Amino acid sequence: MRVLVVGSGAREHALCLALAADPAVTSLACAPGNAGTAAVAEQHPLDVADPAAVAALALSLGAEFVVIGPEVPLVAGAADAVRAAGIPCFGPSREAAQLEGSKAFAKDVMAAAGVPTARAFVCTTPEQASAALDEFGPPYVVKDDGLAAGKGVVVTDDRAAALAHAALCPRVVIEEYLDGPEVSLFCITDGTAIVPLIPAQDFKRVFDGDEGPNTGGMGAYAPLPWLPEGTVDHVVAAVARPTIDEMARRGIPFAGVLYVGLAMTARGPRVIEFNARFGDPETQVVLALLETPIAGLLLAAANGSLAAEPPLRWREGSAVTVVLAAAGYPEAPRAGDVITGSDAPGVLHAGTRRRDDGAVVSSGGRVLCATASGETLADARAAAYDVLGAVTLAGGHYRGDIAEAAARA
Ligand code: AMP
Ligand code: GLY
Repeated sequence: MRVLVVGSGAREHALCLALAADPAVTSLACAPGNAGTAAVAEQHPLDVADPAAVAALALSLGAEFVVIGPEVPLVAGAADAVRAAGIPCFGPSREAAQLEGSKAFAKDVMAAAGVPTARAFVCTTPEQASAALDEFGPPYVVKDDGLAAGKGVVVTDDRAAALAHAALCPRVVIEEYLDGPEVSLFCITDGTAIVPLIPAQDFKRVFDGDEGPNTGGMGAYAPLPWLPEGTVDHVVAAVARPTIDEMARRGIPFAGVLYVGLAMTARGPRVIEFNARFGDPETQVVLALLETPIAGLLLAAANGSLAAEPPLRWREGSAVTVVLAAAGYPEAPRAGDVITGSDAPGVLHAGTRRRDDGAVVSSGGRVLCATASGETLADARAAAYDVLGAVTLAGGHYRGDIAEAAARA
């Protein structure tokens, strides 16, 4: 099978490596890709935000299956365009991707489906925002309704900062603060059957000790040794199942991966957000532990035959990934710095490109991540930091405490 992966992050590099390892995949392309994906897949330029361009590339390459990584093409309708061209595609339709594309839409689906989440108000004026902030009190949670590349959410005790963020966005969701550790659970679905992967944890803040602004994610680990037994089954039954059923009831079935972002509160798991795609960097650790060949699984989700798939097989042990970010990330990442050591095993590329002189240089905020697995979480953590230690990037920074607390417990 000839497969095209759309995207250019470390998630897509991890997907490319997993697909390349699947005997069912005979050839692999990635567009637009990065310096890392170029080593495992043919590379093609692509404007991922243009659905017609995605479909045209898939046709011109003779792709038999397309896997779409990021949210921007999904929300733009790239999966619909690929399917309309007669090619199976992993990724929800434009309408179904609204579960990620509009936080207000996601809240409406959750309310209709009885899914546990933070109480929230959708606000379009400063007066509404002000009233909503006072209803909940601090810490204030203000979310841009639309896609914002991981930067649309402000959590703060500063009422003026909360109001200022609301004023910058045409429509915001203001919601109750959820207290508790976060869990990301990816549920593969064909619109009916649901197959959960193993839960992972992401580190959203830029600095050690969860300090500084939110980012797209600075590191992750899986599985979660502290998670109570039965949590995955509970979340599938209480969150994924009613959500997938509600989408089907509305005539907009969701097929692809439903990313359930949860806070484990004292009152039980509560949904923080839905995404319509694999998480980055969590995918890097989840796929590091998945033994089942991935192409068949994703194709079954695209073709509506997920229920017939055998149970997933997982490797023993744990996996950790640590993100190396560019100088100035997340506010103003600097591009064009030379990277050395990035072709080592375990390095997954994100914002990288190969210059004409052959050097690999940075081209985005999250530049690459170092991923490793090990028998214990402590082993995996040590191995991931070893991989990262052999990479250099001027001004690059990373968190030193990814999975530290969980490995110590
Ligand atoms: P989101 O883009 O919705 O995932 O939000 C980004 C991050 O903001 C989450 O990973 C949380 O760390 C934080 N966050 C979002 N919503 C809440 C909430 N209701 N309570 C506490 N933290 C939140
Ligand atoms: N790791 C967070 C995300 O992918 O949205």
